[in-house]
Amino acid sequence: MRNRLEWRNGRVASLRHVADDVLCLTFAVEGALPRFDPGSHTNIRVDIGERHAVRTYTIVPAPKGHLAVAVKLHPQSRGGSRHMWSLREGDPVRLTVPENRFELSWRAPHYLLLAGGIGITPIYGMAKALMGRGASVRLVYGARATGLMAFRQELQELLGERLVLRDNSVGEHVDLAGEFAALPPGGECYLCGPIGMLEAAKEAWVGTGRPLSRLRYEVFGDSGLLAEEAFSVDILNRNQSVTVRPDQTLLEALLDAGVDMVYDCQRGECGLCAVKVLERQGAIDHRDVFLSAEQKAENDRMCACVSRLTAGGGTIDVGYRA
Ligand code: FES
Repeated sequence: MRNRLEWRNGRVASLRHVADDVLCLTFAVEGALPRFDPGSHTNIRVDIGERHAVRTYTIVPAPKGHLAVAVKLHPQSRGGSRHMWSLREGDPVRLTVPENRFELSWRAPHYLLLAGGIGITPIYGMAKALMGRGASVRLVYGARATGLMAFRQELQELLGERLVLRDNSVGEHVDLAGEFAALPPGGECYLCGPIGMLEAAKEAWVGTGRPLSRLRYEVFGDSGLLAEEAFSVDILNRNQSVTVRPDQTLLEALLDAGVDMVYDCQRGECGLCAVKVLERQGAIDHRDVFLSAEQKAENDRMCACVSRLTAGGGTIDVGYRA
């Protein structure tokens, strides 16, 4: 069960490589689009083999009447990025009107924007909107190599000296503690990157004594600490075993197997899809931002939409069902 989404028809208007492994797709969308803030998402129907699935992408700046997304080709793609990279100009798409769960406050005296890898997508839109309002902004963007930094040229033109790039391949990294220390009082930080970056940022932020409410973040769901492997789960009281392929989530596998799951965000944020883990052979790779660090350490539940078990799997209880 998922919130009702407002679907629209669209067509691919243009395609552009914005980094070595990132393709920006701009869609012409039928009908007027409602106003939406930077950081908003659209859901896009993708074909994966014989199946249809829905993938969520952050909207990046685009001409009026259009929606654009930037898609990283992921080697462990669950099929979504492969499908998006196969699209050509003029191809039809089904997508939803934008919705936002990563909102700018618009009220801070200073904004520190931090991005890791493909996490630049909401941050780019935020930077553009904030610069348009004359806000005090600094953007620090880290990636494994300069060629993997999406929208680098646009960001340099937009931000000039307010942009700091950190190329990991030459030993440069985002100095979280230094950035937080330099952020003037009352400033807010918006971060999008892998879960390891978020966890380090939370710790450094709390260390400065700043309220956690001023650190706002989003992570991408494919940013686990461990590689994706196939695993199987036995479901308590259902006499059913479900295998999860490396290219699908536990939630998708459960739904495909006919298990009536409750879920919403599919990004590890709302916690609705959480299942109990009763037994496991290996580790849980927690990839959500819903459970606290203490809850994750207990290792007795996991968010099925993003988190995974390592090879071997275990037994889960989907909880609220008979
Ligand atoms: S559906 Fe929201 S955390 Fe999984």
